[in-house]
Amino acid sequence: MPHGDDEYASALTAAAGHATAWLQSLKDRDVGPRLPAHDLTGPFGGPLPASGMPAADVVDLLAHTAEPGLMAMPSGRFFGWVIGGTLPAALAADWLVSAWDQNAGLRYATPAMAAIEESAGAWLLELLGLPEAADVGFVTGATMANFTGMAAGRWRLLTDAGWDLDRDGLSGAPRIRCFVGRERHDTVDLGLRYLGLGRPVVVDADDQGRLIPEALEAALAEGTGPALVCLQAGNLHSGAFDPFPEAIRVARKHGAWVHIDGAFGLWAAAAPELSHLTRGYEDADSWGTDAHKTLNVPYDCGIAIVRDASALRSAMGLHASYLVHDAEGPGDPFEKVPELSRRARGVPVWAALKSLGRDGLAGQVRGLAAAAAQIAAGLADLDGVEVLNDVGYTQVSVAFGDDATTRAVTARIIEDGKVWMSGSRWRDRDILRVSVSNWRTSRQEVETAVAAVGTALAAVRGG
Ligand SMILES: Cc1ncc(COP(=O)(O)O)c(C=O)c1O
Repeated sequence: MPHGDDEYASALTAAAGHATAWLQSLKDRDVGPRLPAHDLTGPFGGPLPASGMPAADVVDLLAHTAEPGLMAMPSGRFFGWVIGGTLPAALAADWLVSAWDQNAGLRYATPAMAAIEESAGAWLLELLGLPEAADVGFVTGATMANFTGMAAGRWRLLTDAGWDLDRDGLSGAPRIRCFVGRERHDTVDLGLRYLGLGRPVVVDADDQGRLIPEALEAALAEGTGPALVCLQAGNLHSGAFDPFPEAIRVARKHGAWVHIDGAFGLWAAAAPELSHLTRGYEDADSWGTDAHKTLNVPYDCGIAIVRDASALRSAMGLHASYLVHDAEGPGDPFEKVPELSRRARGVPVWAALKSLGRDGLAGQVRGLAAAAAQIAAGLADLDGVEVLNDVGYTQVSVAFGDDATTRAVTARIIEDGKVWMSGSRWRDRDILRVSVSNWRTSRQEVETAVAAVGTALAAVRGG
């Protein structure tokens, strides 16, 4: 049993101490975890205790026991997948969200959360150059953001085809033809699966993974009826962006709904030097992105943006007698996302944007791309390294001759622990992928990254 308000204070003070120690350790610690999960299930497991433990002791035990199993994902030397980092203001705001414990679904019940998220949404639309009247919903990640945007698309397409989706469901509905580029993220297919839309038609892409508009035109022309096209802002391997003006023009010709998956790429629009990458993307119908990636708020936070607010609210909204619906304002937050109950994920977004400002966000995104370019240049100078992509954003894909050598170098880098980078397969080759998505990656981390790859390559070559 908790022992009153003092227990909050002691538990939170303990948590703040452990969190600060963790963040301070990021500068020097090896990036990878020291213990695998199966070595940690014992210490965390055992028989379910019959009686409890004071909260601060639970926090101490948790922090000490978890520490060897933590990956230093918020370190500036972490370059795996596309993860992001945590800005100080966003992290602290996230703690407040937990302490406030607001169920952010209803505008009337949690007015501060609604007001903060509405401001964050308006700022985002301005920063990203998206339609002022679009709806913004805060979800868990880009998978759900894409799902949400495409759900609005499904509703609109079927309604325009004279089908009542809410009443009759999908059975017997006109088929929606879905089109994706060859190198879309796999979670787009997952979203389509959740929506009951089946496997998409795969459209050919160029050597950087950009969808080819002529191929989209040919694929769309093969049939008729409702169509949904999902484009990509930011390819996982190359960082490339689909050619939006051309692809959207083709999609429009066939009356398609256009969704853009910009999990980490949408943020390019916020940096004037990079906004050419997203040129024309504002003409789409819906967009999905992650705040936990390029913006650097703590996990988890994705953002769904939909131009046609009535389609989104029809797809996601509900009316229940026990809820107190917003009567005068812009509607309830729950109408824009799949969940009724949820934490106020938009609050850390607001805090991140408030702490960065327009110039700070532009500088952050520009800095990530600049660090990627520096890493690519440093790696290209090493003998035996091939940089495989045109590095124009935050992603660098490299190979070291044959697949076996690339795999061995990747394993060696991870084993050495100075930096963490993930392996992948692209263009029929094993590759090492360097993904820059953390505000803490500075010149020093760039140099460490290049040196770590050089050392691993030399070790592999030396046998
Ligand atoms: C391009 C792209 N789309 C979608 C996703 C899925 O995002 P999330 O894992 O936040 O759901 C990712 C994740 O890396 C991504 O890079």
